[in-house]
Amino acid sequence: MPTTPLISGYGLQRHYRRGIETVRALDGVDLEIRAGESLAVIGPSGSGKTTLLNVLAGLDAPTGGQLTIGGQRVDGLSEQQLTTVRRGFFGFVFQNFHLIPTLTVAENIVLPLLFLRRPVVRHEVEQVLEAVGLSHRAHHYPRELSGGQMQRVAVGRALIVRPRVLVADEPTGNLDTVTADAIVSLFLTLVNREGLALLLSTHNLELASRCDRIIRLKDGQIVPPVSPPQSLR
Ligand SMILES: Nc1ncnc2c1ncn2[C@@H]1O[C@H](COP(=O)(O)OP(=O)(O)OP(=O)(O)O)[C@@H](O)[C@H]1O
Ligand SMILES: [Mg+2]
Repeated sequence: MPTTPLISGYGLQRHYRRGIETVRALDGVDLEIRAGESLAVIGPSGSGKTTLLNVLAGLDAPTGGQLTIGGQRVDGLSEQQLTTVRRGFFGFVFQNFHLIPTLTVAENIVLPLLFLRRPVVRHEVEQVLEAVGLSHRAHHYPRELSGGQMQRVAVGRALIVRPRVLVADEPTGNLDTVTADAIVSLFLTLVNREGLALLLSTHNLELASRCDRIIRLKDGQIVPPVSPPQSLR
């Protein structure tokens, strides 16, 4: 039986006004994402990938369309109400890792719990360290890590809140191809093992094709897949 979507969007728009000009960063996107599913978003620079991820994750409010997150209609909610819906539902991973240099690996990972005023449970932190393969680096500082390890800290920090959806905006943009591949493997393991949903934007078609589904954006719209030529009868 198909599960209900964790996120569904219909006719999603995010328009920006610049004087008399309107930038249609997102322009009528329909999309559903379910637990245990990985979705890659590809498209050229400026096509709307970041905008789509931010809207689907409740970081930005859509300016048009319908959006449901975790069964709750969220279009039309205030920023504050959106924050409440978003909290703990999403884990975020970015291209530039965004680690705090003066905190250790373990301290960086537990940071979201402090923001959410949730207790830090030692064995849960150990589980996350283990899941991202950094148990032996728990007390190291970011400057002592490789790029791939830094991104794994960021993945750990996203996981500590036990999110339903992992949102990764070009998470491999600053990594070499082997390390990038390993990070995507880690994501897909988490999707399969924990039943998370993954929303991944990337410029790398090879990485994207490891996901269950790919959508291609152009000018804020989904480009329909090219269907194979009809065979002659
Ligand atoms: N705050 C903003 N105000 C006005 N226009 C914006 C704003 N944010 C994004 N845009 C515009 O929306 C469009 C989509 O931007 P977006 O960042 O989503 O693209 P992207 O596909 O993520 O690109 P990249 O691959 O370079 O990260 C661009 O034309 C951009 O200039
Ligand atoms: Mg982007």
